[in-house]
This record gives sequence, C-alpha cells and structure tokens, in this order.
Amino acid sequence: PAPALTAVVDIDVPGPTISRHLYGHFAEHLGRCIYDGFWVGEDSEIENIGGIRADVVEALRSIAIPNLRWPGGCFADEYHWTDGVGPRDERPRMVNTHWGDVEENNHFGTHEFMALCELLDAEPYISGNVGSGTVKETSDWVEYLTRAGDSPMARRRAENGRREPWSVKFFGVGNEPWGCGGNLTAQQFSTLARQHATYARNHGENSLYRIAAGGSEDDYVWTEVLMKQLTRGLQDPSPSDLYQAISFHCYTMSGSWMDKGSATEFSEEEYWTTLARAERVGEILAGHVAVMDAYDPAKKVGLALDEWGTWWNVEPGTNPGFLHQQNTLRDALVAAVHFDAFHAHADRLRLANIAQTVNVLQSMLLTDGRRLILTPTYHVFAMSVGHHDARRLPVNPVRAGAVHEADGREVSTVKVSASTKDGTVTITAANLDPTSSAVVELHLRGGDSGVITGAQVLTSADPRDHNTAEDLDRVAPVPFEGAVWDGGLLRLDLPAASFVSLQLSA
Ligand code: AHR
Repeated sequence: PAPALTAVVDIDVPGPTISRHLYGHFAEHLGRCIYDGFWVGEDSEIENIGGIRADVVEALRSIAIPNLRWPGGCFADEYHWTDGVGPRDERPRMVNTHWGDVEENNHFGTHEFMALCELLDAEPYISGNVGSGTVKETSDWVEYLTRAGDSPMARRRAENGRREPWSVKFFGVGNEPWGCGGNLTAQQFSTLARQHATYARNHGENSLYRIAAGGSEDDYVWTEVLMKQLTRGLQDPSPSDLYQAISFHCYTMSGSWMDKGSATEFSEEEYWTTLARAERVGEILAGHVAVMDAYDPAKKVGLALDEWGTWWNVEPGTNPGFLHQQNTLRDALVAAVHFDAFHAHADRLRLANIAQTVNVLQSMLLTDGRRLILTPTYHVFAMSVGHHDARRLPVNPVRAGAVHEADGREVSTVKVSASTKDGTVTITAANLDPTSSAVVELHLRGGDSGVITGAQVLTSADPRDHNTAEDLDRVAPVPFEGAVWDGGLLRLDLPAASFVSLQLSA
C-alpha cells in the first residue's frame, strides 16, 4: 500500500470566514431549469407552492442554499423585467434566442422569483440587463423591488399584489458583456456599468452589493480595467460606492467548446483531464486576486465567480439549446476541487454560483415528471454545509503527497479542507484517484482532539456512476467508517474516487 500522506491542521489559527455565499446557485431561463424545474404552475398535478415545485424547495433548503442568481446568464441581457409582472395571462411573450429559440411566456417573473427565494430562505441575486436594457429599466427594477412607501414603482408592485418591498442583497450589472451581453470592450462596458450602478439605488434600508460583470476565465486584463474604472482604488479608504465586487466565469470540460465530452461515457484519460482542468480554477482565482490586490490591497472589493461547473455535450436526444446533462461522481469531485480553491481564496472570493440548479449543466437536481433525482454534485454541497460561514483552518501539507500528471499539469490527488464554527471542526477530504485508495494522517495541532460527531463518504465503484429515476441512490453518501484516532493522529482511509466529510467537536 502507498505510504500515508500527512498534514497538519492548525486548529488555533482560524483564518478568514468562508462565506456561505461561495456555495451559491444560478437559475436561468434556459431549457428545463425554470419551467419544469422550479416552476410547474399552480394547476400542476406535481405538488407545488403557488406554482413552485415543493420537492425542489425542500431539497435545496436541505443544502442551505444561500443565494440564487436569476434570470441569466445570457438571457438576462435580453430580459425586460416589466414583461414578467402583472397578471400572468396578460404578460407579453418573447423568443429566448440564446437557448433553443423557444417562446418564453414570462409566467415566471419577479414576484415568482422573489417568492421562490423566500421559500428557499436564500438571498436573491438579480442579474440586470445591460446588453439590451436601459439605465431606466435598471433604476425602475431596483425601485420596484426595494422601495417602501409611495412611489411609482412601489405603487405598481402593490397593484401586482405585494405591498411590502423585498430585501435584495446582490445585484449584478451585465453578464458576459464581452460576448452574449453586448460584444463590448472592457472600456465600453465600464462606461455603461458606471451609469447602471449609479441608478441602481439603495432605497431605504436596502443596501445593494453591486457586482460588475467580469471576464472569461483568465482574462486578467478585463479585471484590471474594471478595477481602474469601477472601483476607486488606493486613494480612497472606503469601499467603492459604485461596485462592491467584480465577477468572472470559468467552466470545466474535457474536450473543446465544439465537442465538450460526454457527461457519462469517458475514459480514464478524460477523467484526469477534467480534474486537471478543474484544478486550474485555483490558479485563475490567484491571477484575478493578484490584479485586485494591486489596486485594493485591503481587499474591500470582492471577487465573484458567478458561473462555474462542468459543461458537457447534451444528453443524446435532447434539445442542444437546453444544455441538459447527466452528472456523475466525476462531477462531484470537480465540485470538491473547486471548493478547496474557494476556501483558499476566502479572503477575496465573496460569492460563487454553480451553473445551474435544476436540469441544466452541472445541476443539483434533475426532474423526471414527478420524480426528483439528487445528483452526486448535490451530495457534495450537502456534505460541505459545515464550511458555511466557518473560519478556514490552515491545512499544511507535511509531504506534498500524491500527484498525477494530466493535461500538462500536476494534479494533487488528495485535497483536504478544514474550518471551524461554533465549537465544531469540519474536515472535508477528496481522493481524486479513480483506482487507488489513499491514507491521510492529520495532526490536529493547537486544540483538543475532537470526538468525531459525524462522518460521511460519497463514492462509487466507477466514477461514471450517476443517479437516475430508476436508481436514485447509486451515488449517495453513506456513514464513513474510515476515520480513526491513531496515536494522536486522525487517520482517514479514503476510498478511490471519494469525498469525505467529518465533523469533530472541538
Ligand atoms: O450557463 C449557461 C451560459 O453560460 C450563460 O447563460 C452564460 O452566461 C454562459 O456563457
């Protein structure tokens, strides 16, 4: 057997708080995410709460969904919010040109989305339209959502059934402005973004956290232009009034944009390529952070990775514009790799949204008529709830440990993250190796040895394994017996291709 890997966890050196918003989600008017996913309508035979699927709400509450980004994505830049308020049967229709060229009936609009967020107990993250919208639309939408008392938009909201304003925390300005959001240069977008943010006002007590749409993957130049143009920089000690964060997007696939690879049929080489590409997110985060540090060393401006996840060829026989894909144990491990990188950058990364919550891309949930399928990725989110708003603990590798070369890089095959909150230490560990188990010995330094109060493992015989309506629990967490105290060290026996979550009392 391979020798044990060793690491020290400094229990007495708590680092930055891992915001629960790093475990955020994204729901776009795309394929079967909103319609059929979240929204079935009040007359549906599927159990619903005012048209919203009850089982979806329950499943997402179980993973403590912290925020939900809506209505896009590319869709956001052709969405005119006024089309989605008022009596449903009178709402104008439109063509969803990005996603399947299908007709959108606007039955799911602002009131439905805000009701969904209330049911989920999640913060709404509204994505405003810069590509084809006006500054007035942005201004009116924010007023409609958040202004109390008597004003044109507050009256209109009340006429549509909601007297009290909602609380809206996150407001995004634009989406992929370099592409589907207008084909703009960073300079052009900055000018528009300044205008939109100016009129996305704080009404009453509501204080918006404005997020400027950022670049793609490692486009650090875009980030630099936004830092210069949208945040005030070193001379101003207060956080920028206009923007509180800048975003970027980063997807994972084993192939190319033309042929991304299959979600379920992949070779061992494609498996490793995928994990190697997922590992890139840590380097890309570090690149954006370096640029931001140059302009904002106090880290007042946040970074938001508001679209990430695997993107595969669509399931055979489904509409290519609907981005419907299965989700295997490999996807779950991709999520684990991301979370490790997110924790490492918790002092700058304030928000992240996996794409997308139901039936689209790397989803948490798949719906099949009445049936609801929890994906392996869902389970990694569930097993990581202990990290929400917990203080990160340093994990110092004593020996660098196992690495695997793939896609021109070295992938470290064992990941360990630790955090502490309310007297509980949460440790998550992943073994990416699909064929060999791994042993990790952890020295929990600087604190009393904890009693293991919870231990789960997610694994399966084959990384291609996934859940279906006929086999709901093929990949599901089970109690983990492989954690033992051994001579003062916490020894973890990690099966091949596995994710483990432990809770210890401090
Ligand atoms: O998540 C699917 C699409 O990916 C989004 O609409 C867009 O922002 C990105 O290109």
